[in-house]
Amino acid sequence: MAKKNRWSPETLAAHTLAGIDPVTGAIVPGIQPATTYQRDPDNLYRRGRVYGRPDNPGYEVAAQLLAALEGGEESLLFASGMAAATALFLALSPGDHVIVPKIMYWALRAWLLDTATRWGLVIEMVGTDDPAAVAAAIQPGRTKLIWLETPANPLWTITDIAAIAEIARKHDVKVAVDSTVATPILTQPLSLGADLVMHSATKYLNGHSDVIAGTLVTASKDAFWERVRGNLARIGGILGPFEAWLLQRGMRTLPIRVKSASANALELAHRLSAHPKILEVLYPGLPGFPGHEIAKKQMQGGFGGMLSIRVKGGEALAIAAAAKVELWKRATSLGGVESLIEHRASIEGATSPAPTDLLRLSVGIESADDLFDDLDSALS
Ligand SMILES: Cc1ncc(COP(=O)(O)O)c(C=O)c1O
Repeated sequence: MAKKNRWSPETLAAHTLAGIDPVTGAIVPGIQPATTYQRDPDNLYRRGRVYGRPDNPGYEVAAQLLAALEGGEESLLFASGMAAATALFLALSPGDHVIVPKIMYWALRAWLLDTATRWGLVIEMVGTDDPAAVAAAIQPGRTKLIWLETPANPLWTITDIAAIAEIARKHDVKVAVDSTVATPILTQPLSLGADLVMHSATKYLNGHSDVIAGTLVTASKDAFWERVRGNLARIGGILGPFEAWLLQRGMRTLPIRVKSASANALELAHRLSAHPKILEVLYPGLPGFPGHEIAKKQMQGGFGGMLSIRVKGGEALAIAAAAKVELWKRATSLGGVESLIEHRASIEGATSPAPTDLLRLSVGIESADDLFDDLDSALS
C-alpha cells in the first residue's frame, strides 16, 4: 500500500526532508565522510550508525526523499542502478521463476540471462505489455517476482502496472518496476499496486550527468526487503557520501526538470512525426502509439523525456544524422538537463530489439525550438 504525503512532490523535493542541521543551523544537509562511528561508553550504538558501508546520514537524506516521493515505507541507495536491480534479484533463491519483459534495459537483461541464470534463477522473458501473456506465464508457487520497466528502453513500450499487480496479487507474486524513465513525478508504481520500485538514479533523479547511483523503494519492510538490505550491506554496492549529497541536491529540482523535459519531448514528437526524413516516432505521448491510452492513465503531468526516431533510408543515414548535430550530444545515458542522441543498436549489440535505423533521444530542458532546428538541419 502506497503512503500518502502531506506535501506535494514539488514541495518535498525543494526542501528535502532533512530539515535544519541541529548543530550548525545550516539549511542544507552536510557531507559526512566518516567510515565508522563511535560506540557509547556502555558499548551500545544509540545513534543507530555503526559502520560506513550500511550507514551514512547523507544516504538517509536522499533515501527519505525518494521514499516520500514514491509513497514507500523505505528506500535504499546503491552505487548504481545495476547494483540496485541485482541486489533485488539476489534476494530471491535459486530455483525461483522470474518473469521479465522482452523489452527492457539491455545490460540488466544480459545479467539476468547470464549471471542470474547460472546462479539458479529461472528467467522467462514475456511481453509484459500483454497482461494475458503475463498471467499465462505465472507458475503458481514457483514464480516469485515479475519485473517491469515502463516506459521501456529503447522502444518506450508501456506496461499496465495496475493490471499486472492485480494478476500478481492472486498468486502471491511480487511486482518490481524499473521506473527510471517515468520518475516518481510522472508515475508512482506503489500506488498502482507494485511492491518495489527501482531507479537508475544516474538519470533524472540526479539529472546533471555527474553521478552514477541507484535506488530501490519498498511498499513494506517485509522479510524480502530485509534480504535486499542485507545484500546492500554485505555485497557492499553502496553510494559514496559525496555522490549521495550530489544526488539529493539534484533531486531538489526533479519536478521542474521532468516536466520541462516531458513538454519538450512531446513537442518534438509531434514536430518530428511530420518530418519528411522520419519514418516513425516512438513516444508514449503520441495518440497513435500502442500504449498511449495506458500511459495516459498511469502517467500524470507528462509522458517523459525519452523518445526514439526511425530515420528514412536505414542505418547509414541514421548514423549520418547523429554525426551532424551540433547541440545534441552523441552519448549514451539519459535524464540529464542536456539532450543526448544515440544510435541504440550499436551499443546494445546483436540481441537489441532496436531497429538499425533508430536513434534514441534523451530530451533535456533546452529550448524545444533549438532542439528541433538542430535535428532538422542534421536530417536535411
Ligand atoms: C532503464 C534503466 N534501468 C537501469 C539502468 C542501469 O543504471 P546504472 O547505469 O545507474 O547502473 C539504466 C542505465 O542506463 C537504465 O536506462
